Amino acid sequence: MIEIVPSILAADFCRLGEEIQSVRPGADMLHFDVMDGVFVPNISFGLPVLRSVRAFTDMTLDVHLMIREPARYIEAFARAGADMISVHLEADGPEGIARALDEMARCGVKRALALRPGTGAEAAAPYAEMLDMVLVMTVEPGFGGQSLIEGQLETARQVRSMLDRCNPACRLEVDGGVTAENAGRVIAAGVDVLVAGSAVFGKKDRLGAIEALRAGN
Ligand code: DX5
Ligand code: ZN
Repeated sequence: MIEIVPSILAADFCRLGEEIQSVRPGADMLHFDVMDGVFVPNISFGLPVLRSVRAFTDMTLDVHLMIREPARYIEAFARAGADMISVHLEADGPEGIARALDEMARCGVKRALALRPGTGAEAAAPYAEMLDMVLVMTVEPGFGGQSLIEGQLETARQVRSMLDRCNPACRLEVDGGVTAENAGRVIAAGVDVLVAGSAVFGKKDRLGAIEALRAGN
């Protein structure tokens, strides 16, 4: 099943509740981009906003942490309402990443590992068996509204075949520059979870935009 996950980074934050309601009937999860201004050159939002969103909606919250040394904050994001957390492989050394994944298990949230462009599929292999999802970035993390890096679809394909060998149930998500025009190619690469910011919140007809992504056309 193909899942479409609107990213609220592209929403109007003054009307966040209405924005969430506008996608709720069609979306499979809601994507929540947390940026620290250190791991990525931008700052977005964090725990207080997640807490408010959690109290407002029963949607599954997919929290993408673009922060250094994420193990420090797993418990806080889990308590604030995350259902699934992605940490970046590049955001800490192997011990720190293992600690972050352990924290997620301890806190009862689904575990995902994110790869920025330039990180090869094989880097995720040592963690593959513990993961619920791998997130392959199709733009440099930090900003919405960029164009999808086509070469990352090859990384997605490689991650999918690695997962098929050691953890077939693990989902594969891509994030960045996904549009109705390229969704077909993304899905053909074996991706089953598509994050989309501008391609959903940038359109008037939110539900139509979600279905166009899901149909891959
Ligand atoms: C970028 C974020 C993305 C972003 C995607 O660092 O991780 O989730 O919101 O936005 P679009 O779909 O507009 O590229
Ligand atoms: Zn994201």
